[in-house]
Amino acid sequence: MDVLALCGSLRKRSLNGAVLRTAVERCVPPHEVRVGPDLGRLPFFRQDVEESGALPPEVVELRERAGAAGGVLIATPEYANGTSGVLKNALEWLVGGGQLYEKPVALVSASPSALGGDRAQAWLRETLTMMGARLVPDGLLIPQATVKVEDGRLVDGVTVKELDGLLARLYEYEAG
Ligand SMILES: Cc1cc2nc3c(=O)[nH]c(=O)nc-3n(C[C@H](O)[C@H](O)[C@H](O)COP(=O)(O)O)c2cc1C
Repeated sequence: MDVLALCGSLRKRSLNGAVLRTAVERCVPPHEVRVGPDLGRLPFFRQDVEESGALPPEVVELRERAGAAGGVLIATPEYANGTSGVLKNALEWLVGGGQLYEKPVALVSASPSALGGDRAQAWLRETLTMMGARLVPDGLLIPQATVKVEDGRLVDGVTVKELDGLLARLYEYEAG
């Protein structure tokens, strides 16, 4: 499966970014995980622009990459009990495009908190369910992630195995 990995954090030293880099490195052929476009470059969703048909190039790129992927891995930070604005914005551009409809999607969240971003994931599940995505049932919550990441990589052995398990469950889903 060709997996597009989307990061909801724009932070240079993002814990979620570290998780995705680790997923890229843990992935073995025939599967491939590639980190997708910088969601911070997307303009804010505007229905008028979408309806004009003159889509910004960043949106075209996101839609093309999401459409071509066999599955999507989303890493989300938890901000104010939800996901990030940049990730929600990206999903809004993908609603109309339909690229996540019936697409296998797995969720992971890394947080310094003891709960691991559970509210961000719950929130995302509602949006992705509305979009018709085929959600891998159990997402991966990574609590106390600051002590599980070093030099931009996930280093906690148990969590790395859990990430392998999440990817394996994602590969089991075939695009509908
Ligand atoms: C504006 C803001 C709101 C946040 N809200 C929450 C929250 O509701 N729950 C939580 O567990 N952590 C919250 N955090 C902490 C983030 O989850 C933490 O900074 C995390 O490391 C961000 O993800 P990243 O490392 O991938 O950038 C918040 C952080 C910021 C900056």
